[in-house]
Amino acid sequence: MTSAPPRRQVLAGAAALALSACHERPAVAQAPAPAPAVRLREISPIPLGNCVMTDQIADPAYAELLLRHFSQITPEWEMKMEAILRDDGTYDFTAADAIAAFAQSRALRLHATTLVWYSQDPKAFHPLDGDRSRMGSAYRNYIQAVAGRYRGRAAGWDVVNEPVSEEGGGYRDCIWRRNFGMDYVRMAFEHAREADPHAILFLNDYNLEYKPAKLDSYQRLLEGLLKAGAPVTGLGTQTHLAADIDPAQAGRAIRELSRFGLPIHVSEVDISIRQVARRLPGGPALLDLQARTVEAVVAAYLDLPPAQRYALTFWGLRDKDSWLRRPPYDGDGSDRPLLFDDSGAPKPAFTALAKALQA
Ligand code: XIL
Repeated sequence: MTSAPPRRQVLAGAAALALSACHERPAVAQAPAPAPAVRLREISPIPLGNCVMTDQIADPAYAELLLRHFSQITPEWEMKMEAILRDDGTYDFTAADAIAAFAQSRALRLHATTLVWYSQDPKAFHPLDGDRSRMGSAYRNYIQAVAGRYRGRAAGWDVVNEPVSEEGGGYRDCIWRRNFGMDYVRMAFEHAREADPHAILFLNDYNLEYKPAKLDSYQRLLEGLLKAGAPVTGLGTQTHLAADIDPAQAGRAIRELSRFGLPIHVSEVDISIRQVARRLPGGPALLDLQARTVEAVVAAYLDLPPAQRYALTFWGLRDKDSWLRRPPYDGDGSDRPLLFDDSGAPKPAFTALAKALQA
């Protein structure tokens, strides 16, 4: 089995930035990248998504490329708890509202993320730790305020993100688990459903292709939730992959999760080549491996019954937009995990995707 791409690796961000600045090309006028004739969204039998931030959608070149190919957006960061919830417990919806308004004005489907995520530990909840009653009210109020605000506008919500432990076999610790045990997951789904009766409510996690124990734990959690009557109505598999993954393995989570009969969101696709370059020096062309991986993911996705195909979302537009290029995730800025290069020109992965969507 190929190993998973490293996550949240803390590298020397400032040094990396300085380095990339040295490599910047001189200010010679560059011809704009030729626009590919095909518009993915027009040939795609499934909703195709991408993640966005407010400063990106304000950039006309970015917005043009996004709107040309994608029919759905996920806010990359600005609907997360750390963006919305201030330390004093009040809310700031400025950026989240701007993204929802952009989706509405451009007729894009909105997928919202994320109501509850262990990695977000806002100060506003800290004084309530240990007081189950006050914590319970604050938890419910937060989920309902946020899910309720976008009611009727968000097609789906990642209700709980990444609950399974890194390797599987258990579940992650977080302030809500400490107060309510694993029931915090069921509670989140109930609260979200009360606030928004129609959004598809997702349980989302990553590395389900790489780690069988993690996929098992995800399914055990899901089975328990469904048995308890929790309104989990969608399954998210992030799909952050490395380009040298075995193509059969790339579609494993999609195939395995299909048995639940629920809509599946391939929610955060990127195909990293940075570590692969180290593992396979002189191996097959990395961008071709990346293209082959995209093809394998899409093929597995298109095998799903149409009612289970919620969307396939890429986690960034051009390589330079990727979180994997930003500190603290990847200090050297060398990864090229997306469909378009830094100038917005389509890569082999784009061509493979277009072909697979038309197959
Ligand atoms: C990441 C964003 O890309 C970053 O910009 C932000 O700083 C942190 O979150 N898994 C997830 C996503 O579920 O929400 C993460 O997005 C990437 C990993």
